[in-house]
Amino acid sequence: MDHPIGLQIRGGTKVYPGTRALKSVDFDLRMGAVNVLVGENGAGKSTMMKVIAGVERLTEGTVLMDGHEVQFNSTDDAARHGIGIVFQELNLFPNMTVAENIFITREKTRFGVDIDRSAQRAATRALMQRLEHDIDPDTPVGTLRVGQQQIVEIAKSLSQNARILILDEPTSALSAAEVEILFRVIADLKRDGVGIVYISHRLEELIRIGDYITVLRDGAITGARSMEGVDVPWIVRNMIGEASKDFAKTEHHPYGPEIFRAEDICLPRIGGGLAVDHVSLSLRAGEILGVYGLMGAGRTEFLECVMGRHDHARGQFFVEGTPLREKDVAGRIARGIALIPEDRKNDGLVQMLAIRENMTLSSLGDFTRIFHMDLAAERSRVADFVKRLVVKIASMENPVSSLSGGNQQKVVIGKALMTKPKILLMDEPSRGIDIGAKA
Ligand SMILES: Nc1ncnc2c1ncn2[C@@H]1O[C@H](COP(=O)(O)OP(=O)(O)OP(=O)(O)O)[C@@H](O)[C@H]1O
Ligand SMILES: [Mg+2]
Repeated sequence: MDHPIGLQIRGGTKVYPGTRALKSVDFDLRMGAVNVLVGENGAGKSTMMKVIAGVERLTEGTVLMDGHEVQFNSTDDAARHGIGIVFQELNLFPNMTVAENIFITREKTRFGVDIDRSAQRAATRALMQRLEHDIDPDTPVGTLRVGQQQIVEIAKSLSQNARILILDEPTSALSAAEVEILFRVIADLKRDGVGIVYISHRLEELIRIGDYITVLRDGAITGARSMEGVDVPWIVRNMIGEASKDFAKTEHHPYGPEIFRAEDICLPRIGGGLAVDHVSLSLRAGEILGVYGLMGAGRTEFLECVMGRHDHARGQFFVEGTPLREKDVAGRIARGIALIPEDRKNDGLVQMLAIRENMTLSSLGDFTRIFHMDLAAERSRVADFVKRLVVKIASMENPVSSLSGGNQQKVVIGKALMTKPKILLMDEPSRGIDIGAKA
């Protein structure tokens, strides 16, 4: 089947202060097909898509549609050319409802005057039906979990009827069943001739869904072809080069004594029922305990209870056999508990602060001298974690918002590890992290 090229980048270079994020890339986006994009954290995937979506401008090079050069100065500008994007980081307004978020800046109006809320609600319901979700249009987005917010972002992009749809890691917080639903929607869009760009770190997912694949490494394209015959080793080779990296090795070690216990934890849900329903578990030193459940099953809420974020939770926790009496988060960190939260943008990081400041936020006490902060000690500890976690940064003084999605996640992980936890709670910790770093 023939897939016409709907958009091209030629000689695309993007320079940020201290970083060449794209190095003279040539990219073809094919219509009626899924164009997958893969590469390590910081390789330039999101940057290339932001150029297409009108968020960033190329430093050098051109974007062409139907053979003509185009320049987008904003996402609205790109939208007028039929380009829609679901960003890697969630971009919704927490205080507004699902319907309001979906139609923001494109409100449906009655006689061009006031907002037609019932029309927006009905359209939202239809979108949710298409995505096989029963999220109420009137729910404030801030009360939804990350996975549900991802569904709202996808619904919002579908509502724009884009001819080119960019999905930057749309499934990082979705369950297997929800991924299947999204794939069915993508198949429908393809049939309608929509050109889709799909970014993910789940390689099997890419091979299954993709028609074409482009691999980026350090801002340069190292491979671009039809998906036919592509396998995981081919992708990995192009992603990281011939030099093979060490992946996680399983080492056997004996478990220690019980280090943590939860007894009969309950968390009432607003509006009745229990979000966490009589959960008990026991954890030994050196043990990894997996917590599984569908979206909304209470996994995140349970971890939040352990961390001391819900003061109306019932039940009892024990650390090394002694009851955990500390009620607040700071007290629980002091007892050796750390959480890598699911929602890095809102719970994990302060976007305006530097990478260094974010990493040490939970362990500031370690660097406080009587009247001042020991900056040298703080810097060297941060440098150590940056190296261990292979965080790609230009300088630790840059704002954390200048990092790629996966590298922001590594900062969240570093921040938790820096408190030297005895019990580490991880809620979807590998969201957006590439295979090399999962080790
Ligand atoms: N606003 C910015 N200011 C400075 N540097 C930036 C900015 N945005 C991105 N970068 C840098 O550009 C490079 C490419 O980032 P990009 O977000 O495109 O990576 P990515 O391939 O999407 O990675 P990930 O898989 O982690 O999402 C990174 O080194 C990043 O730190
Ligand atoms: Mg990215």
